[in-house]
Amino acid sequence: MDNSLSIEELKKAFNDFTSASKVIEQTYGFLKEEINHLKDELKSKNERLAELSLLLESIVMNMRSGFMVVDIKGQILLKNNILSNYSGDDKHFIENIINEKYPGIYEREIGERIFKITVDSIDFQNKKVFTYLVDDVTDIKNLEKEKHRDEKLKLMGEMAANIAHEIRNPLGSIELYSSVLLRSLKNEKDINLINSIIKGLKTINNIISNILVFNRDINVDIRKHYVSDIVDDVVLYLRHLMVGKKIEFQNRVGDDDIIYCDSEYLKQVIMNLLHNSIESVEEKGQIIIYSNEDDISTKIIVEDNGCGIKKEYFDKLFIPFQTNKPKGTGLGLSIAYKIVKEHGGNIYPESDGSTYTKFTIELPKRGLYVK
Ligand SMILES: Nc1ncnc2c1ncn2[C@@H]1O[C@H](COP(=O)(O)OP(=O)(O)OP(=O)(O)O)[C@@H](O)[C@H]1O
Ligand SMILES: [Mg+2]
Repeated sequence: MDNSLSIEELKKAFNDFTSASKVIEQTYGFLKEEINHLKDELKSKNERLAELSLLLESIVMNMRSGFMVVDIKGQILLKNNILSNYSGDDKHFIENIINEKYPGIYEREIGERIFKITVDSIDFQNKKVFTYLVDDVTDIKNLEKEKHRDEKLKLMGEMAANIAHEIRNPLGSIELYSSVLLRSLKNEKDINLINSIIKGLKTINNIISNILVFNRDINVDIRKHYVSDIVDDVVLYLRHLMVGKKIEFQNRVGDDDIIYCDSEYLKQVIMNLLHNSIESVEEKGQIIIYSNEDDISTKIIVEDNGCGIKKEYFDKLFIPFQTNKPKGTGLGLSIAYKIVKEHGGNIYPESDGSTYTKFTIELPKRGLYVK
């Protein structure tokens, strides 16, 4: 048997080999192209990943909440900037937070601040790690407290207003009967006694008026009045309070001075100012009330030579419940302010802090509300 390949067969085998190697060469070319393409894709994906992780890091490091990752041994793996700001030099700050090991939301007072701490645990590379989100909620908590206090104050105010309203009528009757009784008395001791009662009643009445104004919305009915009519009424009402102290009182209000106001409310303002002046002066004190009028406004000025008001107290004067008196309610000036502002006017103090005080009420001539 002849085993040798014929020339024809060899040629065919060679041709087959050539075409097979061409296919391989072609396929290799494709593969090479594919690999290059994949390489490019990987490169751009890696770049994108690096970008993303940079972005994530920047977000975590700079987010508004404190953030920290801690391993099971308590080693800090990551801590962002705001958390470093919170902790500052306080070594115990971080310990206080790490103490919480169970997932949940906690509220902790650390130093003078209140923090909300959200704890979570996650598996990271087959190990358990804890994440801590830390927020300073001091301001929110204080606002909540303030709101709660305001609601309580409002309720107390409403209650006080109801009581004040109920007291007012019998008080009026007692005052009336006392005045009638006073006229029939001859004995000086009895007269002094009734005068003291009337004085006390007027003080209570003034407190009640202030409480009532404090709790209601003021609706002023502005009309044209003589300043003297208003001031005379108040002085008549308050004269009992001045008797005991031997106060030299001067009413220098111009006879023709005009003011645009709600007379009842303005009386209360002047009453509160005069009350304060009477309380501030010692024996032989001096109180002067006068007025000024021009085309734009009318001013009523109450001046006394009492104890004066320190400059640093000026800012607090018109805030409700700010008082320096053992029995004061601290409502007088805040009510005065509220009423004057309702008139579109102004009220301002002047004092050297020790020898005199001057309050000026200024109401506009052609205010918004003038009828
Ligand atoms: N003429 C004044 N001289 C000195 N201090 C004054 C004068 N007027 C007000 N003050 C100071 O301002 C504070 C606040 O006055 P305000 O009239 O609002 O409250 P009060 O007089 O203390 O209490 P209330 O008027 O409710 O009885 C007073 O406690 C007092 O210290
Ligand atoms: Mg007062």
